Amino acid sequence: MGGDGLVKRVLAGGRTGEAGGGVLLGISAMNTNQRPSGRIGTLTTVLVTSVVSVVLCVLALLLSGHLRAEPAAAGLQRAEPLLEHGFTGQSDRSAASSEVCSGKHEHDVPGNVRRNPFQEAMKGWAAQDPVPKRVCPCCGWSGDVFAHLKIMWSQWGDRPDKQCPRCKSLERHRSACSLFGAGKHPFLAQEGAEFLQPPQGFGSVPFRLAHFGPEKTMDSMLNQVSDMDQIGMDFMPWLYGPSTFFADITSIPLPTNFSDGVVVLHVMEHIPALEKATQELVRILRPKTGWALAEVPCYFEQTRDCRDKDYNGRKECAGQPDHVWGFNCDDFVSRMRQEGLHCRRVNLEEDLQPWATKLIPSMRVELLPSYICSTG
Ligand SMILES: *[C@@H]1O[C@H](CO)[C@@H](O)[C@H](O)[C@H]1NC(C)=O
Repeated sequence: MGGDGLVKRVLAGGRTGEAGGGVLLGISAMNTNQRPSGRIGTLTTVLVTSVVSVVLCVLALLLSGHLRAEPAAAGLQRAEPLLEHGFTGQSDRSAASSEVCSGKHEHDVPGNVRRNPFQEAMKGWAAQDPVPKRVCPCCGWSGDVFAHLKIMWSQWGDRPDKQCPRCKSLERHRSACSLFGAGKHPFLAQEGAEFLQPPQGFGSVPFRLAHFGPEKTMDSMLNQVSDMDQIGMDFMPWLYGPSTFFADITSIPLPTNFSDGVVVLHVMEHIPALEKATQELVRILRPKTGWALAEVPCYFEQTRDCRDKDYNGRKECAGQPDHVWGFNCDDFVSRMRQEGLHCRRVNLEEDLQPWATKLIPSMRVELLPSYICSTG
């Protein structure tokens, strides 16, 4: 769940707090009954209610991360190119905070992307002196080094400097976050359309994102995009939380031509009925403008079909016991194309705006193969 969700819940808690204020009021009233004058009781009530409101507001700010202290850091030179591109380093967080506390509605600001967390993260990063060595484009954390990640069952699972200590993002999430935050849709490059932009000509219909295996790590970013409906789906929804629907990607419970975007990172290599799953992605995507961001591991000379193997066999065949395919990258692309999904390998160096490419080393996104796919 993202910062906004937390704020909303804390604010909902604030309403409970008001009820608590009611209880306090009751106690004051009782005290008042025992006293000759009610004035002190009323004054106490007003004071207590004010203090409770202030405390709740501060709590909301703390929990939403607005007041969270960033770790001090040493390292790179200040990034001048960023500043040239309009990043003054001035934070508009305090403005955002006062909006929350004044109860101003979050969606008052019209437009497609109200706040761009990627760009805010970059601003914060560039404003520090010295500039920290690492920055996470998903949540804005910055510091000297990412956390060391260990996964027992993976031969590549022992990796230092890999996971964002705040939002737990891995390279693939950071790669997607930076694309969403700064990149243009490669298929719509001529129009200069950005990711997550609601379809033109549809009035107030929000952008519809179907997110398979909805990585929590991307929520802090995605939840801040206004005009977007995100539907999280997975075959094992309990891994993700109560807002994730159960769904079989080979029979997706969404209407035809429904989704503006699909995020499907490290999913397809788990699916035995690959053709059916691909056809389903094609079916739910809005014709012409719909896109899918897909990532699969694909480092084999030739694609390996490991579907008939057992646990150890798949480990041997596909490199991981829960993978049924060991893809070759080019072959993956042609398998997608056969079902009507045209995929183009993302090259962050090219697809991010020029200033953002300067940040790639500090995001440590690694150039994992990601594909932007469309039905057109
Ligand atoms: C989906 O879009 C295609 C292409 O525009 C159209 O031919 C088809 O009728 C649409 N299907 C539905 C169910 O809307």
